[in-house]
Amino acid sequence: MKRILFVIFGGTGDLAGRKLLPALSKLQTDRENPIDLSIIAIARRDHTDASYLREMEEHAPASFDLGILEKRISYFKMDVTNPQAYGDLKKRIDDVTGRTDLCLYYLALSPELFTSAASNLAAVGLIEKGNKQNRVIFEKPFGTDLESAIRINQGLSSVLDEDQIYRIDHYLGKEMIQNLMMVRFGNRIFEDSWNNTSIRSIRIVVKEKEGILGRGSYYDRAGALKDMVQSHLLQMLSLVAMDVPLSYHSEDVKNEKSTVLDNLSFDPSACHFGQYDGYLDEKNVKENSSTETFVRLKAHVDTPRFKGVPIYLTTGKKLSVKESYIMVEFEVTSEQRKWNLPLKTNKLYIRIAPLDGVGLALNSKVIGSRDEVEEVELEYCAACKAFGNVPEAYERLLRDAMDGHKTLFARWDEIEKSWRHIEIIKTNQKKPFVYKDEEDLRKQIAKNKKEVVF
Ligand code: BG6
Repeated sequence: MKRILFVIFGGTGDLAGRKLLPALSKLQTDRENPIDLSIIAIARRDHTDASYLREMEEHAPASFDLGILEKRISYFKMDVTNPQAYGDLKKRIDDVTGRTDLCLYYLALSPELFTSAASNLAAVGLIEKGNKQNRVIFEKPFGTDLESAIRINQGLSSVLDEDQIYRIDHYLGKEMIQNLMMVRFGNRIFEDSWNNTSIRSIRIVVKEKEGILGRGSYYDRAGALKDMVQSHLLQMLSLVAMDVPLSYHSEDVKNEKSTVLDNLSFDPSACHFGQYDGYLDEKNVKENSSTETFVRLKAHVDTPRFKGVPIYLTTGKKLSVKESYIMVEFEVTSEQRKWNLPLKTNKLYIRIAPLDGVGLALNSKVIGSRDEVEEVELEYCAACKAFGNVPEAYERLLRDAMDGHKTLFARWDEIEKSWRHIEIIKTNQKKPFVYKDEEDLRKQIAKNKKEVVF
């Protein structure tokens, strides 16, 4: 059985309690791929091992039992900016773990600390360049802008090889994002139609009901563009618009995704930025902040396959519901064009939240009528079939990092190109309008343009 040491920097953060520890508890109980985990959680606050676990149990979703980690977790109080503290960390690691087959360091830290933390780990011999038994996972965002991302990457290259670096984007671990490739490439009906002769438009939508949930000091510097578009939405766009890869190996898939980013552009006249009413009253948000909590962008991918197809990216907080999906809208049929029939366009939905699934909207005759048409939806609810037990994204990603599989992690060139796009969008960014709710938002966008809202 593989003995694995998992060290969490940012151990008292929201991510550790809500996602990482629940995912680790599932992996520890997985009978098919048994592992022997030791976890060290690092943060600045005072805690005993027991009080730490109790606090994390409060954050974890009710369906997870963190109790099974009890004998496996140890808490270590440390200031990660202090290089001397890393020697003590090494001692603690030597004390709590014996022989290990693999050490994973998860840096759920602000990106400014990535390089120094990795260099300090290297200085005390906890990581060693070229030794694949030491891997470091970097929580998103990888950088705060293009310049800082380049600086971080250069800094890391002196202590880690690329195959020891895992840049996480949890959307890539979601079941339906992986299913997107299966739906595209595993179905003959989409093989010939996944292009600009058959596809009319694409929408990628991530709506959230919640606001910024107390993360003002981070979010006010990021906004929706850096928090969501740079990572999750551009990753989804690359997967939807890429060409068929040479193989499904990590590098071939990433080459195609990267080509999409090379050919991507945004239409500045069709970009909208909003800020929810009440954002300025959130804790740690600057007075008069013009940070956007909503964006709607219109993009084009100038490849032979997708030239001319508008791709709308929409994401925002404090909207009516939590809902994420990709919608591919197909062109009307030639019959429809010829006779101007009252038909709707066909649509393929890849549903990501709240329930994972796939939907297809078709035209169908109304039963019993002579020729009346209605739009019917064929729906497959993956989450219902798996009785709500669709594996969590982090579970999949941590397992892949343990197994050394990098397909679901972002490669450096993808990150760099995404940041370049964000910089360009930001140079044209308008001051956000204030929206009260989703209806108000839709009205404000529709007022300016007679085009698809979202
Ligand atoms: C995170 C963002 O990466 O993704 C958050 O930082 C956002 O602001 C979250 O709420 C959304 O993820 P999910 O999986 O809940 O859709």
